[in-house]
Amino acid sequence: MPTTDPPQISTAPLDRLAAYWRNGRPNIHGWVAPVLLKPLSAAAAHQADVGVRGDVLEIGVHKGALFLALDALRGAGEKAVAVDVFDDQHLNVDNSGRGSREKFDEHVRLWSHDPDGVVAVQADSLTLAPADIVQSEGFRLISIDGSHTVEHTLNDLALAEATAVSGAVVLVDDYFNPRWPGVHEAFARFNLLGAPKLVPFLHAGKKLFLTTLDAHAGALENARARLEPGAAKPRLVRLYGHRMLVV
Ligand SMILES: C[S@@+](CC[C@H](N)C(=O)[O-])C[C@H]1O[C@@H](n2cnc3c(N)ncnc32)[C@H](O)[C@@H]1O
Repeated sequence: MPTTDPPQISTAPLDRLAAYWRNGRPNIHGWVAPVLLKPLSAAAAHQADVGVRGDVLEIGVHKGALFLALDALRGAGEKAVAVDVFDDQHLNVDNSGRGSREKFDEHVRLWSHDPDGVVAVQADSLTLAPADIVQSEGFRLISIDGSHTVEHTLNDLALAEATAVSGAVVLVDDYFNPRWPGVHEAFARFNLLGAPKLVPFLHAGKKLFLTTLDAHAGALENARARLEPGAAKPRLVRLYGHRMLVV
């Protein structure tokens, strides 16, 4: 149960995110690096600057720790879609965290600014087609953090690619984590399959950040302007031919 005040209700998504990060997130067990706040805020601020709109999606929500951060960032009329096997843990083939529908629902009630805008889909992501999750035009923020097998991650990348709006930002968990090599292999295969629409521009807080090819230059420039000044040893590298900032 939360040990602090209930969430601040604010009309400004970035304020809402900061309030959730301060009050809600510490009360939810999950795997969200504290340093993720800054790159997530920077990406959302850039989307607001350039007018990217859309719903938000997480595949693999567990108890909602990161999902509620994405939820905080959605604006009026935008939905937040949560995909997890939840209590169907026999479908969780690599034991990548145990989702709980009861805990997730409780946290949404406590920390979402608009619980009616949350859509929970209890399913193995392998069984989902874009039409099963898309609410309106598509997603502008997506987190891929469900099963970490090659098959699932590749499937989830394809789902993200099919449902992302132009200028969307997609977070891929554990890309450089040797304990979950399936994520790395899946992204390699994704790149070798053809010319992917989603390309990397940032690595921060254990997540690889992708955006649509047409928005890559702007997303990278924004990351450099907003993140490089405070970063210890930022590096500009190339991944699959795309310039990417590592902070
Ligand atoms: C690492 S946890 C997610 C952590 C969460 N994003 C957070 O920030 O706290 C992985 C989640 O993926 C779910 N999961 C595992 N296999 C899945 C699958 N095939 N489809 C959908 N969700 C799955 C698990 O139940 C678990 O809740």
